[in-house]
Amino acid sequence: MESNEAALDKKATADGLDLSDIVEYETELPRADEKAPEKRDKKETKTLLRYLENHLVDMNVDKYGQSTPEGYLREMLSLKDELTNFQTLMMHYECALCEIQTKIEVMDRELALVQNRNPIESIKSRIKTPRSIFEKLDRRGIDFTVSNIERYLQDIAGIRVICSFIDDIYKLRDCLIDQDDIILLEEKDYIRYPKDNGYRSLHLILAVPIYLTSGKHMVKVEVQLRTIAMDFWASIDHKMKYKRDIPNGQSITEELQYVAEMINQLDRRMIQLREKIDGPS
Ligand code: GTP
Ligand code: MG
Repeated sequence: MESNEAALDKKATADGLDLSDIVEYETELPRADEKAPEKRDKKETKTLLRYLENHLVDMNVDKYGQSTPEGYLREMLSLKDELTNFQTLMMHYECALCEIQTKIEVMDRELALVQNRNPIESIKSRIKTPRSIFEKLDRRGIDFTVSNIERYLQDIAGIRVICSFIDDIYKLRDCLIDQDDIILLEEKDYIRYPKDNGYRSLHLILAVPIYLTSGKHMVKVEVQLRTIAMDFWASIDHKMKYKRDIPNGQSITEELQYVAEMINQLDRRMIQLREKIDGPS
């Protein structure tokens, strides 16, 4: 006899649909700066729920029916719950990114007035994609569940702040963690203590409050602060990682370390230059 799973697959294929495609599509979130993610999420959740419900009806599922594959039904229902929980959690991260971005922009505006120059060159933010969340948990041997995502991953919401000078980075850091609704959970200072490969940046894991109808929730956000020069290095380094089979890999690694040191010198010379122009800060 054909299993229910096979029957479902068949029906899905007949409809030109594949459940895994739908799950992937439904959970793919827009970037923080895209418009009205809530509207899109709601519509997509409804589509998915309708899809699941149609299948339950097609299968004549009731809790007494002979043909009821109870375990399977339970699985589908929990999938429904997990999906809704997943989308809710992602919405929390989206909101936390908005909150932290606003805080950083406010500091930029204020410091621009006080110092007569903007400390921030640019801000980039992103929510980790479902695929990348799955792969990260899988690498660590952790099950892909909503509670595990929240518990074990710190960088679902990430914001990268590119500053003009190294001292701007520490100034922004101090002002951020001085705010009384922000909690510093973890700090990695790869500027003072660069990685062996030469990577430099200041990483903060913050807990940021978001205010929902149900009240206040603290949400984790990873903030990476670096100078334009550090960002230039990190972007090239990142690209190299995707080209693993480059010839002379070792000499390129050494070259990158050397260039990272030059970039560090450059950043420090730029501060001296600024002080010559503006006087010491
Ligand atoms: P992952 O989050 O799994 O990377 O591990 P972790 O939390 O121990 O890493 P860490 O806080 O050191 O770095 C997190 C992020 O910093 C990465 O996802 C990158 O964006 C960036 N990063 C860290 N090291 C490097 C590096 O050597 N080169 C580049 N280009 N980026 C890096
Ligand atoms: Mg990390």
